[in-house]
Amino acid sequence: MKRILVTGGLGFIGSHTVVELQNEGFEVVIIDDLSNTTISVLDNITEITGIKPEFHQIDVRIKSDIKTFFDNNKVDGIIHFAAFKAVGESIAKPLDYYENNLSSLIYILQEVRDRKLDNFIFSSSATVYGEPDSSPITENAPVKKAESVYGNTKKIGEEIIKDTSNAYGINTIALRYFNPIGAHPTAKIGELPLGVPANLIPFVTQTAAGIRKELSVFGDDYPTEDGTAIRDYIHVVDLAKAHIAALKRLINKNNKSSFEFFNIGTGKGTSVLEVIKAFEKVNDLKLNYKIVGRREGDVMTCYADTTIANKELNWKTEISLEEALKSAWKWQQKQSV
Ligand code: WQD
Repeated sequence: MKRILVTGGLGFIGSHTVVELQNEGFEVVIIDDLSNTTISVLDNITEITGIKPEFHQIDVRIKSDIKTFFDNNKVDGIIHFAAFKAVGESIAKPLDYYENNLSSLIYILQEVRDRKLDNFIFSSSATVYGEPDSSPITENAPVKKAESVYGNTKKIGEEIIKDTSNAYGINTIALRYFNPIGAHPTAKIGELPLGVPANLIPFVTQTAAGIRKELSVFGDDYPTEDGTAIRDYIHVVDLAKAHIAALKRLINKNNKSSFEFFNIGTGKGTSVLEVIKAFEKVNDLKLNYKIVGRREGDVMTCYADTTIANKELNWKTEISLEEALKSAWKWQQKQSV
């Protein structure tokens, strides 16, 4: 049985990926520092799969702790999620973001190199495309200057991985996520936003639950059909499954070069107003919202061309936006009780 290290394995995307890894027969060992999640997620994963993953509470910024972990654990692959992810906070606290998101990556890659390990998957983001010249975005679109420090950590992270894999022949894949949403169909795991959510869907569900008074729609004067910005919302379970596909590609040595990167989205663009309308319809409720000015740093349109990912990873999304919005609401309702 292949043993896979998942850093940040108790976070939103990490926890869903752990479930899918276990469903596919992988043995999982999780590292998480619990800075943006709770230990109860471990029990909830266990409830879903019937298997308790091994867990180590480790802060990936501490080099010696990472070394000790690898001294004591043999792994066949690594999926590295552990990172800070709040765009606004990253601009206010750049050094915290560069330290946490990049030093941890370097420390883990040093262990991978020194121990001749292989099969490394990195959580990257569509944010590396900046304001894209056009959508759908293919992997051949240029990587642009990052809009935020967070985005820059993903851009630099990819460069570090590329240089490292070229120099030492380590097989790596970066997955460029579009907008992950939704929760596990069991509603046992989902997104746990700290404080006021910056992302659309948690703000929508918290508004529907009465936790927030009103949703602000950031701009209706974009040159899009209804004037609101367009994104590619992907269900987190579909996103999690992309990691299994990428891992199998690496383990089976089907990769074409030592560093590859793929767009992980649905290939479909949806506007903010379309999201709101779909959320209201599938959950049979009315959302309190108002139009306000554009949010600084937002791009107009960003959705994926998934042709390459679909073909090379032998993976595609299966869950509709409607299902995703239903699962997000089911999860929210469980949090409010
Ligand atoms: C989606 C759309 C907003 C909130 C960000 C990061 C990206 C990635 C995912 C992850 C936009 C609009 C939002 C609200 C709104 N990072 N909106 N009212 O900005 O596409 O991507 O999250 O870790 O790197 O940049 O996602 O969910 O914030 O916004 O109208 O209260 O919803 O303007 O058009 P975004 P988002």
